[in-house]
Amino acid sequence: MTAVGFGAMPLSTSGRPDEAQGVKVIHSALDAGMTLIDTADVYCLDDNDIGHNERLVAKALAAWSGDRDSILVATKGGLTRPGGRWETDGRPAHIRAACERSLKALRVDTIDLYQFHAPDPAVPFADSVGAFAELRQEGKLRWVGLSNVSVNEIETAQGIVEVAAVQNRFSPFFHELPHDGVIKYCTDNKIGYLAYSPVGGGRLNKKLPGHPVVGPIAEAHSASTHAVVLAWAVARAPNVIVIPGARTVEHVLDSAGAAELELSPEELQAIEEGEFSTA
Ligand SMILES: NC(=O)c1ccc[n+]([C@@H]2O[C@H](COP(=O)([O-])OP(=O)(O)OC[C@H]3O[C@@H](n4cnc5c(N)ncnc54)[C@H](OP(=O)(O)O)[C@@H]3O)[C@@H](O)[C@H]2O)c1
Repeated sequence: MTAVGFGAMPLSTSGRPDEAQGVKVIHSALDAGMTLIDTADVYCLDDNDIGHNERLVAKALAAWSGDRDSILVATKGGLTRPGGRWETDGRPAHIRAACERSLKALRVDTIDLYQFHAPDPAVPFADSVGAFAELRQEGKLRWVGLSNVSVNEIETAQGIVEVAAVQNRFSPFFHELPHDGVIKYCTDNKIGYLAYSPVGGGRLNKKLPGHPVVGPIAEAHSASTHAVVLAWAVARAPNVIVIPGARTVEHVLDSAGAAELELSPEELQAIEEGEFSTA
């Protein structure tokens, strides 16, 4: 697995490009050597549009000239989009139905990595995870992942099913809070860690160019500030994979370049200690 994957969400949420551009962007990620695509049933506009991003990923993969088997597609279940809002639904019946829909949308018999999108406060966490364990036993999932979880939740899940990956928000804007210790726990337990919104997400990433700490480091490496931030995240631990999202080929190619970018310990420390306002 390459350390820089592709987060397909912005190709299906509000402000999304047309389908042809979406396919082009996904192909550029695959052609640049990215081996992981992250999607979700709820990467869409609202509940009437569920599966938009998964169908787009499936379409792009079907039309891609490379080796489909070399690509890991990670999707998720456990949320809904009523009226465009993001809500949790961790009931086992919902997860089972969502999984069936995702299998169809992705045009596969087995989902490579199926992630529980977020714990549902209204449903015991173990019940939700139990549904993932059952689906795996039935051969519908190759690997199970968790998203937006704490160390305690990962430990609980591990008593129910093998946890292959954890996906949490991680960037200089949002170090690990409120999930302190998760990266270390995953490294120690040989669990993959997918860093989502790694350049800060759709709004905050725009603050990176010209950042007083990241700007000069980028200049010194003749790289973009976005690539520097991705390289910083990847350097955190060997099991970290960043999944930046993008709607343009230019941004995808720039992010792919971060895999080759090596920052010095002093540069990593400077970013670690830098001020990254979320205002
Ligand atoms: N598990 C969860 O709860 C969760 C939540 C959020 C996201 N995610 C996953 O994480 C992925 C990434 O998160 P995200 O999309 O929220 O945030 P992000 O990757 O931090 O930021 C994406 C935005 O940054 C811009 N960008 C990315 N790389 C760039 C580059 N090299 N140069 C310039 N601009 C660049 C893109 O602009 P353009 O659009 O203009 O190209 C895009 O709008 C999502 O696609 C999704 O797969 C998961």
